Amino acid sequence: MALVEFRQVRKEFIDRNKQPFTAVAGSDFVIQDKEFVVFVGPSGCGKTTSLRMIAGLERQTSGDIIIGDRIVNDLHPKDRDIAMVFQDYALYPHMTIRENLSFGLRNLKKPKEYIEQKVREASAILGLEKMLERKPRELSGGQRQRVALGRAIVRDPQVFLFDEPLSNLDAKLRIQMRVELSELHKRLGATIVYVTHDQVEAMTLGERIVVMNQGVIQQIASPTELYANPKNMFVAGFIGSPPMNFINARVEQGRIVVDGGSFGLPENIAERLSAYSGKEVVLGIRPEDIYGEDFAPGVSTEHRLQAHIQVVEHLGSENLIYFHVGGRMVTAKVHPETKGYTGLAKEFILDLRKCHFFDPATQERITGK
Ligand SMILES: Nc1ncnc2c1ncn2[C@@H]1O[C@H](COP(=O)(O)OP(=O)(O)OP(=O)(O)O)[C@@H](O)[C@H]1O
Ligand SMILES: [Mg+2]
Repeated sequence: MALVEFRQVRKEFIDRNKQPFTAVAGSDFVIQDKEFVVFVGPSGCGKTTSLRMIAGLERQTSGDIIIGDRIVNDLHPKDRDIAMVFQDYALYPHMTIRENLSFGLRNLKKPKEYIEQKVREASAILGLEKMLERKPRELSGGQRQRVALGRAIVRDPQVFLFDEPLSNLDAKLRIQMRVELSELHKRLGATIVYVTHDQVEAMTLGERIVVMNQGVIQQIASPTELYANPKNMFVAGFIGSPPMNFINARVEQGRIVVDGGSFGLPENIAERLSAYSGKEVVLGIRPEDIYGEDFAPGVSTEHRLQAHIQVVEHLGSENLIYFHVGGRMVTAKVHPETKGYTGLAKEFILDLRKCHFFDPATQERITGK
């Protein structure tokens, strides 16, 4: 197994109008040996391109790519010792599962006993032993997905590359495969680079997450760190569901003023915002940090917000309450027994300890440093 490193890796494509288009804008990162790293970001942000450059299927415009202890810039994909699993895991329909699993190794002219052993090991890990003589069409979607993984596992690569491998599965299977992938990672002790646009998948699978937007890496951090300390409004709004609320606010004499309320600020936050006195800021608060009056355990009730509730969604385990503050829609995720009344003014309590403040011009989080 091995680490994967990008040093100032850039990829430009020439678009239809013959203009250069930057798909990846100078990425820098080190993925450690045996680490499970997930690339996440909206469609078109450069995730697949990054992965294809690691695989050698796409040549970077500039910068260096390192796998293990080698610069692999000029190395052919087949010599990079990686295995890639794509979204459309196209198995050979006319071959049995055993043949599908062994195909790559047979192409490499590996000895028969070696191939048999690898297929045996992979199918045991993936629970495919009883299906080896079947054809792909006789398998469920999840089982087929496991065969695709098996084809990668038998190769014993230094690095596994996954590009949205679960997106063709239904929600329930995806969750099951997510768990299986985490287990597989532990068992193989492999370096895995995984691409998805689904932030829940990223949060559950990644030891670290690389958040990308428009070709630019926004932040690289563990799931908890990304959630607690997002670097900017993009990361704050992308990670978490429902996403973080953003409320236009103004700092005035140690107080925060928003439509529907004004709060005295705890000293540490006031300090952080000292350079913004008299200026606009964006207050970010997650839906779960907004409470109804009747269920605000351990939260100071002095930070109140008046709002006209628009819609209440009852999800069983929680209620989502939607209201407007200063022209922006805000969502509160509250205890299901919180009393919410459509169309009526109601006071909400904000847990200001959990708030973030952003600079509206740069969209960066204000850390006060
Ligand atoms: N061969 C190519 N020629 C020109 N432009 C390309 C090429 N491949 C990708 N792009 C462009 O580069 C950008 C990044 O594409 P990429 O496939 O990496 O996105 P992605 O993050 O994987 O998105 P998705 O979630 O939709 O798969 C996109 O704007 C895409 O249109
Ligand atoms: Mg893609």
